[in-house]
Amino acid sequence: MPESSHSGSLPLESLKPDFKIHHSYPVHFTRNVFNLENPALSRALGLPREFLSGGGGATDVSGNDFGKSTEPKVSARALAILDDGLVSLNPEIPSLLVDYFDLLRPYIQLESTITLPGGESCKNDLSNLTRIYEAVARYGIDRHSYILAIGGGALIDVVGFAAATAHRGIRLIRIPTTVLAQNDASIGVKNGMNFAGRKNFIGSFAPPHAVINDFALLRTLSPEDRRAGMAEAVKVALIRDPAFFQWMEAHAGQLGRFEDWALQHLIVRCAELHLNQISGGGDPFESGSARPLDFGHWSAHKLEELSGHQLRHGEAVAIGMALDSVYSCRAGLLEEKQMMRVLSLLTDLGFSLYCPWLDELNVDQALQEFQEHLGGELCITLLDSCGTGLELNEIDGTIMKESLAWIKESYEKIGDVRGKSASQVSAKSKNGTSELKAAIHVSSESEKVP
Ligand SMILES: NC(=O)c1ccc[n+]([C@@H]2O[C@H](COP(=O)([O-])OP(=O)(O)OC[C@H]3O[C@@H](n4cnc5c(N)ncnc54)[C@H](O)[C@@H]3O)[C@@H](O)[C@H]2O)c1
Ligand SMILES: [Zn+2]
Repeated sequence: MPESSHSGSLPLESLKPDFKIHHSYPVHFTRNVFNLENPALSRALGLPREFLSGGGGATDVSGNDFGKSTEPKVSARALAILDDGLVSLNPEIPSLLVDYFDLLRPYIQLESTITLPGGESCKNDLSNLTRIYEAVARYGIDRHSYILAIGGGALIDVVGFAAATAHRGIRLIRIPTTVLAQNDASIGVKNGMNFAGRKNFIGSFAPPHAVINDFALLRTLSPEDRRAGMAEAVKVALIRDPAFFQWMEAHAGQLGRFEDWALQHLIVRCAELHLNQISGGGDPFESGSARPLDFGHWSAHKLEELSGHQLRHGEAVAIGMALDSVYSCRAGLLEEKQMMRVLSLLTDLGFSLYCPWLDELNVDQALQEFQEHLGGELCITLLDSCGTGLELNEIDGTIMKESLAWIKESYEKIGDVRGKSASQVSAKSKNGTSELKAAIHVSSESEKVP
């Protein structure tokens, strides 16, 4: 080869590994997951149903012949991390879990149950990670072992990150115990922790091994947390499913009273729509700029931060969706009648669309931080109708600030409907609607829109 072709350096080569990874995990819906007769958890752990009824001779999903083992030995270990908010109201859960795993011995050994503080504060405290890593080391939890995360979306986010990073990934079984965790936070592929006051600054994409949604565990959840979870259902209906949105409008009374059947339908359909987006949307690990499931979230994340997390995630999302619906209308994308449907459903479900931190919301900064977090170009989901979202790469700051001012002005008058009883909520909601119309009337006289 002529010397000049080397240009004095080695020729450059590139290698291009090319492989695909397939992910598949079950999302079960059940009641009383720790009941000794309930096979959901043993199946998630790879054991057959017969295990729980004492039947031997069965093989597991990978063909292991457990029943004929004459010299049983521990083949897998498990570590359970529980949410203290759940355990304080259901103190029997740790011993139910121990009894359940007793039936699965000697094939799986529950090494320890650890209770950590639940709620957003657990995502702010990196020492929770250390506690989980220490337990992983102490109990020999390896990549063939299981970590069970049992609690709200915040605890599951923390345990999910610990499980994804210890030994570069331990099998995670999520047992979410809030509405929001069952219909959104725990069924997807993300985890996260907060850092330096920034929401979900730390985290990874890591699909779970299995998810088990137990409706009976919602029994002790506060009304505020039940309601907060409904915000994500409104969100996904608004961007993807007009019929589901109509169903929520028609059953707002039952949902506002948290009737079991209505809440369960909402959870299952909401989970299904989220999973459709994750598995069929073409970008499960969010490498592109579009984030349709983040409708209403750019301001919600900022409001949560500004409130020092006094505002629940779902409560912040409800306000964020109201703001972006008003913006959609003012920007000429959404009819005013459709915008009113969004605002009415949210207030009928009992959400307050005003919070004092709206006064501190800096639109430009919040949009910039949202873009920085996602990378790529700014992409905000807005509404075309109640059931169809659309993505825009530019937001008109003036219109957004006007929309924010309008929300503040309109809803500050209506007040806070959070935490009211169902009858109070529906009564308030009727008043709220008429007051809202009055507020709109006043503002449309002075400003014409909306
Ligand atoms: N990873 C994701 O894809 C994703 C998606 C959406 C939301 N999230 C995150 O989820 C978090 C919100 O989760 P959440 O709404 O479940 O709230 P949460 O986890 O903060 O829990 C709310 C409260 O309920 C308590 N609790 C949990 N289960 C209970 C039960 N059955 N009975 C009584 N009390 C119970 C908790 O201790 C806590 O005090 C936020 O941090 C949000 O960012 C994550
Ligand atoms: Zn959300």
